[in-house]
Amino acid sequence: MLDWTDRHCRYFHRLISNQVMLYTEMVTAPAILRGDRDKYIGFSPEENPVAIQLGGSDVKDLATCARIAEDYGYAEVNLNVGCPSDRVQKGRFGACLMKEPELVAACYDAMAGAVNIPVTIKSRIGVDEQEGYDQFNHFIQTVKTAGCETFVVHARKALLKGLSPKQNRHVPPLKYDYAYRLKAENPELNVVVNGGINTVEDAIEHWQHNDGIMVGRAFWNAPWLIRDMHEAAGLTAMKSSRDDVLQAYKAYCAEQIDKGLSLHWLIRPILGLYHGQMGNKKYKSYLVTEAPRRKNDVAVLDEARAFVIDSEKREFEDVS
Ligand SMILES: Cc1cc2nc3c(=O)[nH]c(=O)nc-3n(C[C@H](O)[C@H](O)[C@H](O)COP(=O)(O)O)c2cc1C
Repeated sequence: MLDWTDRHCRYFHRLISNQVMLYTEMVTAPAILRGDRDKYIGFSPEENPVAIQLGGSDVKDLATCARIAEDYGYAEVNLNVGCPSDRVQKGRFGACLMKEPELVAACYDAMAGAVNIPVTIKSRIGVDEQEGYDQFNHFIQTVKTAGCETFVVHARKALLKGLSPKQNRHVPPLKYDYAYRLKAENPELNVVVNGGINTVEDAIEHWQHNDGIMVGRAFWNAPWLIRDMHEAAGLTAMKSSRDDVLQAYKAYCAEQIDKGLSLHWLIRPILGLYHGQMGNKKYKSYLVTEAPRRKNDVAVLDEARAFVIDSEKREFEDVS
């Protein structure tokens, strides 16, 4: 998620689960080819497995970027066919590509031919006047013919005019049945469903119908949900607690500060770590006020943590 799941956020999420697949923010092909490459796509090997998400529609450029991403050590290349912003539309990529399945197929073909890692597509279920399942299915079948086996489906359509990107993430209704039907009719495909998955119960429901789920905003707001879903999925148990994760991230912050980063930026992904715990609000507001003032001082993390009341301690206090 643009401006959210940067490398620091992903490092932090990886501390919470050693097995979920993590995705970069969308990075455009021109940014990789002509920008400060390390700034845009540099990442720590500890974050892996990470999929890089590319934005673009120039077949040659995408193939070159896929190769560069593979050389950087990414585990997967994902093409964005879901972003509805004006800027992205002007560049002829993102969600508007739902109207150009043949071009997406050509992009897929070129990227897959350039690398040995999996290439996947993240799409909507339609844009603008595209309504029914048949149009969505036409898009998928066209790209599938080029060899694509994995589709991440944000299960709502996007309106390219009249709705902001933010509105396009909640106004058009979610139609999970499109993703379910896609899987039922194409059992050989990997279908990953995305959009509005906010609880472990939601996740369990979707796992009955699809191969996987992708979670965006809920993991940002309440990152420990990653662990809850990790456990619900029966993945290898992890022993660390929220506090262990905070300590490990504190060590990472110290390293990043030595490289010139500010604590102010680094605390963003951890604001929701104690979501749902007593004292969480004070923890967050302490981080938000202190980190910009003490840009190099990782002790701010422990001081903020001190506001959170352990549930065990709370029970003891309740009884006494
Ligand atoms: C701030 C923000 C930035 C986003 N940036 C991207 C992006 O770069 N690439 C992408 O595929 N989706 C992006 N999305 C959309 C999410 O990946 C996801 O499809 C959408 O939020 C629905 O899932 P959710 O309900 O689990 O959040 C972004 C969402 C938000 C809130």
